[in-house]
Amino acid sequence: MYKLVIQGGIPLSGNIKTSGSKNSTLPIFFSSILADSPLKLANTPQLSDVSTTLRLLMDMGSNFVLEEDGSIFIDSSNLTNLRADYSLVKTMRASILTLGPMLAKYKKAKISLPGGCAIGTRPVNLHLDALEKMGAKIEVRNGYIYATAKELIGTQINFDLVSVTATENTLMAATLAKGFTTINNAAQEPEVTDLIYCLRKMGAKITGENTSTLIIEGVDRLSGTEYSICPDRIEAGTYLVAAAITGGSITVNNIEPDSMRSVIGKLIETGADIQTNKNSIKLDMKSRRPQAVNIRTSAYPNFPTDMQAQFMALNSIAEGNSTITETIFENRFMHVPELSRMGANLKLEGNTVVCKGVTSLTGANLMATDLRASASLVLAGLAAKGLTTIERVYHLDRGYEMIEEKFKMLGADIKRVQH
Ligand code: EPZ
Repeated sequence: MYKLVIQGGIPLSGNIKTSGSKNSTLPIFFSSILADSPLKLANTPQLSDVSTTLRLLMDMGSNFVLEEDGSIFIDSSNLTNLRADYSLVKTMRASILTLGPMLAKYKKAKISLPGGCAIGTRPVNLHLDALEKMGAKIEVRNGYIYATAKELIGTQINFDLVSVTATENTLMAATLAKGFTTINNAAQEPEVTDLIYCLRKMGAKITGENTSTLIIEGVDRLSGTEYSICPDRIEAGTYLVAAAITGGSITVNNIEPDSMRSVIGKLIETGADIQTNKNSIKLDMKSRRPQAVNIRTSAYPNFPTDMQAQFMALNSIAEGNSTITETIFENRFMHVPELSRMGANLKLEGNTVVCKGVTSLTGANLMATDLRASASLVLAGLAAKGLTTIERVYHLDRGYEMIEEKFKMLGADIKRVQH
């Protein structure tokens, strides 16, 4: 097991480059199940969730090759085992994204129910209801989803809730269904748009990207293609908050500012000086203490739930009081008790945390719980006086490529040690 050891109080400075988006890489890897020839994917991040995805696909009969230039060549055109096993699915709930493609291409799937995780029960009813509306027969027993379909028929899907992966699952299933499918109240996250661009290159007929209504005309087959994964806006946001919380000045390269307008707006509200151009964002805090900002998470293009924990760390040492309301997940405040142990003044009231900014946090021994909560503990450690250790670093490795290396490049005193 490893932990991170951080000596806080150093204002970050310098340049980093974001990696490819985790939440775009996963659905695009699973879309290879739809294709009858290989995909070549560039800019894929080296993350444990990506390794899990590749292991799951290999279990099902996919082959992949890591090319010299770092791109991954994946061939899922002849799956021999239409099953996603609990042993892997329990570690990554995005495995549910095998369901739509497997039903569309092979008309059969047996997938372990993902189960909940630290941030909530995370049901999959929207996925199952949508696929049943398209003609799938779905039975849930002994912790597995048994799905079959004579054929999938295009239809109207109206999501009561905006769901990123339910939109992606339905979208992928619809690409090979008979006729037209309209998805109303579709998720509009940039990662959904990235999946649409890749599916179009594979031959899919989809309109409505970046809106809440997607229209898909089913085709007979999809072929492999070459595609480069979009940059990770949540990774970029995490580093920008790290600069703001330490009073530093950094430039994040290889990022589309348009994919994170709500986060940039909130950073400006904290008093950060932000300059953007086509592929980079510069944040300069000019050694100022941040101003507290109120946060309310909701679906894209509004403030992303995946940035909530990071802003709570920022608000903990900001000037003034603030409220942070989480509207997407029912238990995404696992970072609150850990931040409080560092001296943060946080009070949980239902799905809102009331934060009274303190002038500084003190380093402590901490435990990571889920991906983004762990990121907020790293940010707090970078700003705190003294030494912070964070155990169970595997949570971070799910979504942040080379996290300590990138922070070291920005001048942080951070190292990964065995314990
Ligand atoms: C995706 O999860 C992301 N994961 C999450 O990122 C992200 O936090 C989330 O979208 C919201 O933006 C991937 O893309 C792989 P949802 P997803 O379905 O699709 C409820 C990270 O940190 N719901 O959009 O699982 C659900 O409980 C991860 O990178 C149902 O009720 O989230 C939640 O309250 C964490 N029934 C809400 O919808 C369903 O069938 C939105 O969840 C599906 C979802």
